[in-house]
Amino acid sequence: MRTVHVGTGRPYDIDIERGLLDKAGEYAKRLSDAKRVVLVTDTNVAPLYQQRILHSLSACGFEATTHVFRAGEESKHLGTIAEMYNTFADFGMTRRDLVVALGGGVCGDMAGFAAASYLRGIDFMQVPTSLLAQVDSSVGGKTGVDLPQGKNLVGAFHQPVAVLIDPDTLKTLPDFYKADGMAEVVKYGCIKDASFFTFLEHGDAAVHIEDVIEICVSVKRDVVNLDECERGGERILLNFGHTLGHAIEKLRHYSGISHGMAVAVGMVMMAKAGEARGITEPGTAGRIAALCQKYALPTSEQFSFAELANAARSDKKTAGDVIRPVLLRRIGDSFTQTVPIEEFESFITTED
Ligand SMILES: NC(=O)c1ccc[n+]([C@@H]2O[C@H](COP(=O)([O-])OP(=O)(O)OC[C@H]3O[C@@H](n4cnc5c(N)ncnc54)[C@H](O)[C@@H]3O)[C@@H](O)[C@H]2O)c1
Repeated sequence: MRTVHVGTGRPYDIDIERGLLDKAGEYAKRLSDAKRVVLVTDTNVAPLYQQRILHSLSACGFEATTHVFRAGEESKHLGTIAEMYNTFADFGMTRRDLVVALGGGVCGDMAGFAAASYLRGIDFMQVPTSLLAQVDSSVGGKTGVDLPQGKNLVGAFHQPVAVLIDPDTLKTLPDFYKADGMAEVVKYGCIKDASFFTFLEHGDAAVHIEDVIEICVSVKRDVVNLDECERGGERILLNFGHTLGHAIEKLRHYSGISHGMAVAVGMVMMAKAGEARGITEPGTAGRIAALCQKYALPTSEQFSFAELANAARSDKKTAGDVIRPVLLRRIGDSFTQTVPIEEFESFITTED
């Protein structure tokens, strides 16, 4: 068992172990006074893993039921949250009861938000099953849903009572989502950990998946500890590659490219821009591109610099007249730079 302790206002542990799904009931018993548990999951994950969690919960004496929503980002809206509230209320959930989120980032974000807001906040436990959720979204307490106007526009910070990571669940994750999650893994190496980056270059992440998960959640934990509610400090560094990544997703109308794939292109482009401006150590973009290719991620896009800059301007994270992209001095050493909005296009423009 590997444990990463998160020291947020309400502290919790992230435990990583093969087979941990079967211990969900023991964790719930140890960490909460709940009598009832609602297991929230999606239509892909439910047939694979829900029975094991339900069995573990009932063996520990909980009254448990499931709420299954249709898998996919399209379900990440307030209508699905309203359906979760109905399940909670019909099942008689009180303030001491518990929600368990079993699934990818969509499930964790929504079940977390429903738990944050039902009865003004009840406990929830994260059992992430996608690579992205295991290395990123289940840690840090950000929960929420999309609006028609944009992604994750409604939400709350609500820390889980625990995060249970069972790497064996990745065996059933489709390759597309494995590659998607690897973009965030590469990102952690880029922003904070040069030796981890080198390890990814020379080794096989899948073979050392427990190490990979532990290192990634430790980096995220360190960043979250310094900036729990994203007040503009360290947590912004997690957005490396995201300014241009979001722009690409937007220009592609959120289809044909995953978030991680767009972020991979964004990381390479931002490293190239940094190199062109003498900010980033030469050769950095090439190393990031090679690592992305190794893990089946794209490294370039068809859009012009003008199109990308335009799309980045309308991003919700663009505050006022400036854009604050995350840049690298070298692999493992990141910072944000303020770029006036009208200069952003020339900032990202490079020869190739
Ligand atoms: N809260 C945060 O800090 C944070 C950070 C990054 C991303 N996010 C959010 O995470 C979401 C993306 O997460 P995601 O990529 O996990 O999406 P997802 O939850 O839609 O999961 C991806 C797909 O994999 C399936 N799946 C999950 N685990 C599986 C398994 N073990 N076996 C088989 N299939 C499995 C799901 O059913 C889904 O079809 C986005 O909504 C994004 O906004 C949140």
